[in-house]
Amino acid sequence: MEKFVVTGEVQLCGKIRVGGAKNAALPIMAATLLCSGVSVIHDVPYLSDIKAMQGIMTLLGAEIKREGRTLIIDSSNVHRVEVPEQLMREMRASVFLMGPLLGRFHKVRLSYPGGCAIGHRPIDLHLKALEKIGARIKEKFGFIDAEADSLIGSEIYLDFPSVGATENAIMAAVLAKGVTIICNAAREPEIFDLQTFLNKMGAKITGAGSDTIRIEGVERLVAVEHTIICDRIQAGTYLIAGAITRGDVVVENIVPEYLVSVIDKLEGIGSVIQVGENFIRVRSKELRGVDIKTLPHPGFPTDLQAPILSLLTMAKGTSIITETIFENRFKHVDELMRMGAQIKVEGRTAIIRGVPKLTGTKVTAPDLRAGGALVLAALAAEGTTEIEQIYHIDRGYENFEEHLQSLGAHIIRLNS
Ligand code: EPZ
Repeated sequence: MEKFVVTGEVQLCGKIRVGGAKNAALPIMAATLLCSGVSVIHDVPYLSDIKAMQGIMTLLGAEIKREGRTLIIDSSNVHRVEVPEQLMREMRASVFLMGPLLGRFHKVRLSYPGGCAIGHRPIDLHLKALEKIGARIKEKFGFIDAEADSLIGSEIYLDFPSVGATENAIMAAVLAKGVTIICNAAREPEIFDLQTFLNKMGAKITGAGSDTIRIEGVERLVAVEHTIICDRIQAGTYLIAGAITRGDVVVENIVPEYLVSVIDKLEGIGSVIQVGENFIRVRSKELRGVDIKTLPHPGFPTDLQAPILSLLTMAKGTSIITETIFENRFKHVDELMRMGAQIKVEGRTAIIRGVPKLTGTKVTAPDLRAGGALVLAALAAEGTTEIEQIYHIDRGYENFEEHLQSLGAHIIRLNS
């Protein structure tokens, strides 16, 4: 097992460039299964979740080659429609395979995706959406079997603007007969990227980025080339790293409007933010407490709740964070309290009383974003912090320590 060892109290300064977004790449990789042919996807990040998706797709019969940041995916020989249980458990994003396999083969079998550290993460909205366009769903012995004689466009209402359910519904509907309308759809930028990719393949989708998406079914799709949009969550994490260390950081290759809510909160905390066409600069000398509520996009992203909570542990005054998206996403709190943070969690709300400084100690990353948050806290803390179980962090932060080192951080990866 590996760990990070971080020596704190170093102001981060400099520029970094973020790469393609994990949460855009995963559904787009799955979408390549909707047709036979060779798709070329650029700026695919080097992350363990991407590797896991590659493994599952290869098992289904896809042939995938990585050339630098480009994946070449040949889905001509995809012949299996069953995702094995072990691989489903390894990465719940394999649930994105349901839509494409149902769309192309009218059949898919997968085991119930396990919950994870941040919640039990049901897929009822995914299943309800697929049933609405004609899938017959059978759930027993922990497996889900979905099949359809044909898929017919319909109106789908999502009780919650679920990102995954929106993406699965789009991918199942692109080859259906007739028009599908998704109401109360998620509005995340990664869904717009999926729409762009599928329309290049010949789909007829409009409305992604709004709460109503229209998909007119087509006969067939063709394999195409595409470049993944930038990773707004990695970008936001580095901006918060600049603020928590009271440094001066420029994050490049980012679309600023993806982070309007994060920029607003950083300014409220006291950071000076400069926004360019494809970069954001953060300078921060003081930290003031603010209240934050996570919401579906364009609200404050739940994936940056843990990182900004780390920052607020050392902000003047009291801050209140309400996590409205996941029911169990405060696992970083116990670890931050070991570093001297003053936090009280009541259900989905964390009350944070700012302290002048955290102090380094041994902590354990409980999940991907909480792990990132602990690294940020360590960068600002007095003394040295060891962070165990950093495999969680490698799922979603590409070359994390190298990026931070390039900004001046004292962080190394060791075998623990
Ligand atoms: C996507 O997960 C992201 N993952 C998550 O990022 C992100 O936190 C989340 O969207 C919210 O933005 C990927 O894109 C691979 P949801 P997803 O369906 O699709 C409930 C990261 O750190 N729900 O929008 O699983 C669910 O329990 C990850 O990169 C149902 O009740 O999120 C949760 O409370 C973590 N029934 C809420 O909706 C369903 O059928 C939001 O989930 C589906 C979801």
